[in-house]
Amino acid sequence: MNKQKTFSHDKVNLYLQNVIEGMLDLPDNSFDLAIADPPYGASTNATWKLDSGHTLDGFGGAWKLASHNWDMFNGLDGFEFTLTWLNELKRLVKPTGSIWIHSTYHNSGIVNVACQMLGIEIINEVVWYKRNAFPNLSGRRLTASHETILWIHTGENRRDYYFNYENVKAAHFKEDGLKEPGKQLRTVWDIPNNKKRSELEFGKHPTQKPLRLIERMLLISAEQEGRLLIPFLGSGTDVIAGLKHDMDCVGFEVEQEYFDLACRRISAYFEEKETDLQMELPGCNDQPKASNLSLNGLAVNVK
Ligand SMILES: C[S@@+](CC[C@H](N)C(=O)[O-])C[C@H]1O[C@@H](n2cnc3c(N)ncnc32)[C@H](O)[C@@H]1O
Repeated sequence: MNKQKTFSHDKVNLYLQNVIEGMLDLPDNSFDLAIADPPYGASTNATWKLDSGHTLDGFGGAWKLASHNWDMFNGLDGFEFTLTWLNELKRLVKPTGSIWIHSTYHNSGIVNVACQMLGIEIINEVVWYKRNAFPNLSGRRLTASHETILWIHTGENRRDYYFNYENVKAAHFKEDGLKEPGKQLRTVWDIPNNKKRSELEFGKHPTQKPLRLIERMLLISAEQEGRLLIPFLGSGTDVIAGLKHDMDCVGFEVEQEYFDLACRRISAYFEEKETDLQMELPGCNDQPKASNLSLNGLAVNVK
């Protein structure tokens, strides 16, 4: 086992480790749900940047096109990598559970073919429509305004995966112009890609997902108190959503910077929850706080 650094709590275990190695230590059928937001292979070495002070209407402030080492691989490497982690998710998630996978056109074909090769059934392909997507700079392509999300399961013909059908049908999502309360949820989700200040206050991740996108996945497919596997942790968005759903979470991240960001964010979540609990229990404010958080086995002060 080659675990370098861990963050642990009653309900969360995070590893600063390559997920391909880390998952090998986990037992078969030990999770109810997985949310995979893998590298898309969308980064490029080309330098595309717009300095501040430009005069292009609608292009916002200064920016530089994404270029991250963890997101750079060619087709065959990407395919092998996808097959490897997906095969492990198939082993780890119960046949009664399900898996969500984020993608763009860079990797959506690979993920789809990998599912077919591994005998994994696609429940739905969801189009996440980002109505506030960034304009296309080159003027040589359409403005990319969506991502593709696959909802899959490994239970074959039994199709025993959990679907919170009635609550999803009844749901009202304030910002989603395509969903009416009492009507079935469609496979196109209108969710703006902006985050609340509270989602960004511990640092930013370049491909951080909005919390309400992940909360919607959990509303659809997660049973309270289940176990959630997050192979590509990033800033920890899926952990926060999982905790709000009272789930136990296990996550992996290779980059120290993002691992630390996720730890800060999740620690603050517990801190806030504890404060809320004390306010709900008048008279308990003077009691010492139970310290059940640890980093590499050491108790952590989250302030
Ligand atoms: C698309 S981002 C996830 C963003 C996340 N959903 C969020 O909301 O912040 C993918 C993350 O996976 C990490 N990563 C890439 N390859 C990995 C690997 N082999 N094992 C673990 N983490 C990896 C990257 O460093 C990156 O932070």
